[in-house]
Amino acid sequence: MDLPPVGLGTMGIEDGAVVRTAIDCGYRHLDTAQIYDNERTVGAGIAAADTDRTDLTVATKLWVDALGATAVRPATEASLDRLGLDAVDLLYVHRPRGDYDPETTLPAVEAVREAGLTSCVGVSNFEPDQLAVAREYLDRIATHQVEFHPLFWREPLLSDAQAHGYPLVAYSPLAGGRVFEEPTIVDIADRHDTSPAAVSIAWVTSYDNVVTIPKASSRPHLEANLAAADLKLTDAEIARIEAIEREEELFPE
Ligand SMILES: NC(=O)c1ccc[n+]([C@@H]2O[C@H](COP(=O)([O-])OP(=O)(O)OC[C@H]3O[C@@H](n4cnc5c(N)ncnc54)[C@H](OP(=O)(O)O)[C@@H]3O)[C@@H](O)[C@H]2O)c1
Repeated sequence: MDLPPVGLGTMGIEDGAVVRTAIDCGYRHLDTAQIYDNERTVGAGIAAADTDRTDLTVATKLWVDALGATAVRPATEASLDRLGLDAVDLLYVHRPRGDYDPETTLPAVEAVREAGLTSCVGVSNFEPDQLAVAREYLDRIATHQVEFHPLFWREPLLSDAQAHGYPLVAYSPLAGGRVFEEPTIVDIADRHDTSPAAVSIAWVTSYDNVVTIPKASSRPHLEANLAAADLKLTDAEIARIEAIEREEELFPE
């Protein structure tokens, strides 16, 4: 998939006006999920925005209780109904847990794609061995969405994305705000006369095949995050951030 460097994560957004503002600011990739309980809100924002539907990449995710062979299609249809859309562009398996069984789940998701309810199928929170199995059942893995920020990232998942040529969608690129106090990030931000948020987003998107979806609520944050992908870090700065030793996984299994 051809995704822009910065999209919008919507977990916690409960006002369609935020989504509309984001689209007005230039966001073209919108990420929601059944478990965020805000698909109606995201759909309302899309409907209110003055942008062609075809210019947007809308993604949602099937929660772990919607992964049984007979559950996938009605759960997808329910998401589309809440979003007010005929189809999404990207439908994820949110986590390989609960009712997930590659032999039954993935053919059901492929059938939903073939029926035109989604253009592409992605996975999220998979391990490398689970990606290999998924590849046997899916036409292709369009994207893999994983936690990826200066305080937690996994090189094997990045390597898999680069080897197989799909975008890794980095979630929680600001570690939910924890990067704002990280001394290395603050120091690099000071050198560039910018914010730690911008440095984190610039670092995440500095890697080949990586795009990201920070969540933001205000126009200043939305605009700053979109612009952050243009900030160029030096190789030495990228290496300094890679060397940060804190490991803070926000969303462990
Ligand atoms: N696939 C999965 O399992 C999974 C799991 C978790 C998250 N996600 C996705 O990833 C998205 C982002 O992750 P996240 O929501 O955990 O955290 P995040 O994007 O790392 O951080 C969001 C926090 O940072 C603040 N913020 C945003 N831009 C800022 C800026 N420029 N300056 C200062 N503060 C700023 C936001 O505040 P304001 O809202 O006040 O702007 C919010 O409190 C989610 O919305 C969701 O779409 C996916």
